[in-house]
Amino acid sequence: MSRVYVFDHPLIQHKLTYIRDKNTGTKEFRELVDEVATLMAFEITRDLPTEEIEIETPITKAKTRVLAGKKIALVPILRAGIGMVDGVLKLIPAAKVGHIGLYRDPETLKPVEYYVKLPQDVKDRDFIVVDPMLATGGSAVEAINALKKRGATNIKFMCLIAAPEGVEALQKAHPDVDIFIAALDEKLNEHGYIVPGLGDAGDRLFGTK
Ligand code: PRP
Ligand code: URA
Repeated sequence: MSRVYVFDHPLIQHKLTYIRDKNTGTKEFRELVDEVATLMAFEITRDLPTEEIEIETPITKAKTRVLAGKKIALVPILRAGIGMVDGVLKLIPAAKVGHIGLYRDPETLKPVEYYVKLPQDVKDRDFIVVDPMLATGGSAVEAINALKKRGATNIKFMCLIAAPEGVEALQKAHPDVDIFIAALDEKLNEHGYIVPGLGDAGDRLFGTK
């Protein structure tokens, strides 16, 4: 079974409060999502492998560590996942970025795939899938299906807010994918929105609706 990590760092929780607040406007919402994504990226990269190399400081030779292992690819689920990309890239600027386009059919709540574009070297990369919301879990499950179908093997999923229903669905469908969240909320409402949640992440990020 995959592991679920809730990043309840005070800075993340503080910023998340203003992200949730309905009186927070588009500009501030975008900035806060970007900041939380950076803070989460710091935590999610905690277990990246390192290797020792030798360098010379102005004083002496020294053996110090640098990142080793597979390179990273970041994959936002369109469109709301885009809001988390720059924040993560601040810490891992060399990551390649793939895109998976899905929208939830408002009637069935089932994800509909409309776009997939990934780096060519899929097998040589570790993937971080980002989306602010894990609600029914349908979008995350489908996005990860799309990645696995194309050869990805090591995948993490990172979101701001998750519902218990979404966590359960993702763990069941992809027990090998660890889940990193800023807050685990109470439930879904009858329209598939997370309660208390933050509303529609895409609309709030892009000022649509
Ligand atoms: C939102 C959100 C997730 C999805 C989560 O996207 O960004 O991708 O819903 O819901 P689920 O877990 O029930 O699948 P939406 O479908 O609203 O599309 P958008 O990002 O284009 O607004
Ligand atoms: N998608 C959103 O944007 N918000 C929710 O609460 C659920 C799905």
